[in-house]
Amino acid sequence: MSVEFDDILLRQDLDADDIKVLLSAKGPRMEALLRRSLDVKLSHLDNYVHLRGLIEFGNDCEKNCLYCGLRSGNAKVRRYCLSDEEVLSCARLAHEFGYGSVALQAGERSDSEFITRIERLVREIKKIDGGSLGVTLSLGEQQEETYRRWFEAGAHRYLLRIESSDEDLYYKIHPHNDRHSFRRRVDCLEILKRIGYQTGTGVMVGLPFQTLDHLAADLLFFKRMDVAMLGLGPYVPHPDTPLYQFKEIIPSPAERMELTLKMIAVARLMMPEINMVAATANQTIDPQGREKAIAAGANVIMPNLTPGEYRESYFIYPDKACVKDEPDQCGRCLDIRLAAIGHKILYNAWGDSLAFLKKS
Ligand code: 5AD
Ligand code: SF4
Ligand code: FES
Repeated sequence: MSVEFDDILLRQDLDADDIKVLLSAKGPRMEALLRRSLDVKLSHLDNYVHLRGLIEFGNDCEKNCLYCGLRSGNAKVRRYCLSDEEVLSCARLAHEFGYGSVALQAGERSDSEFITRIERLVREIKKIDGGSLGVTLSLGEQQEETYRRWFEAGAHRYLLRIESSDEDLYYKIHPHNDRHSFRRRVDCLEILKRIGYQTGTGVMVGLPFQTLDHLAADLLFFKRMDVAMLGLGPYVPHPDTPLYQFKEIIPSPAERMELTLKMIAVARLMMPEINMVAATANQTIDPQGREKAIAAGANVIMPNLTPGEYRESYFIYPDKACVKDEPDQCGRCLDIRLAAIGHKILYNAWGDSLAFLKKS
């Protein structure tokens, strides 16, 4: 291994060229990268994994992202929305299982009924056992005032993936119109941070037209935005979406998995104390995908709490993991899977981002 490569591995301050060297690593070099990022994680965050019980509470979406199965243009999806009682019973289940936090995710909606409903649900979730559950929201782009109302109701983390930090690539994977504005998305991230949310972003890895230059720029964007959380997962082509036509020009599933792991690893070198989720999409591509992501530097898993009957309708991408499982199976399954790679779940804790806590 070259002196230069070894030297890059030891640094936290990386430029685009350094990052591309790391993202190109194969064989023993890639193994050295993954070993190093695991070391960095363990020394900053120990071997704990935090859980967020994921509640996918509705799949109606106003947007039309070219990669996503829930896009408004896909007439094949059966649209659903959980009732308040269903959402709250998922949250109670999360508390019962000791998950510590829930993540509310849905397609993007901006009507006032939806906004008020989320505010009410967050307040109700915060009443469970005296506010013992942490609440993450992943509900897309909203007005500043909406973000504020939800924050005041008790949500303290928000995930909004940038999907690509390169404006040109952004518009290759989204329609080019007012409803899908790259600028607005960046603004939303700024607003979320300003309000005081632990703010998370991320990208899909292995998109058509995406190069190592794009991915290096994404990592530098995350660092510049000083985010508290990251979600990086492989792109999975969905047959009922426009981007599917490019499935022949994207890397193979094994290559997308490797590239995702390298992205996670480099992100960990650059941002040792952020929270990073081992996305479920990893498991779609590789049965051991989430464990591999944890071993590469991720420290958060989002077990699905959505009631079984709805899970098949939340097909952002095909072959999502755990679709046939009931909620209580995931916890036990994860204990075993994580113990096998020397990690343990920290139950009954919010598991906030250390990077964020140190700043505030
Ligand atoms: N493959 C992988 N991830 C996807 N997402 C949407 N569609 C896909 C896909 N086809 C991700 C996006 C979005 C999150 C909710 O799901 O990154 O932010
Ligand atoms: Fe809607 Fe999100 Fe899918 Fe885009 S990625 S179509 S905003 S659910
Ligand atoms: Fe859901 Fe294994 S994590 S069944």
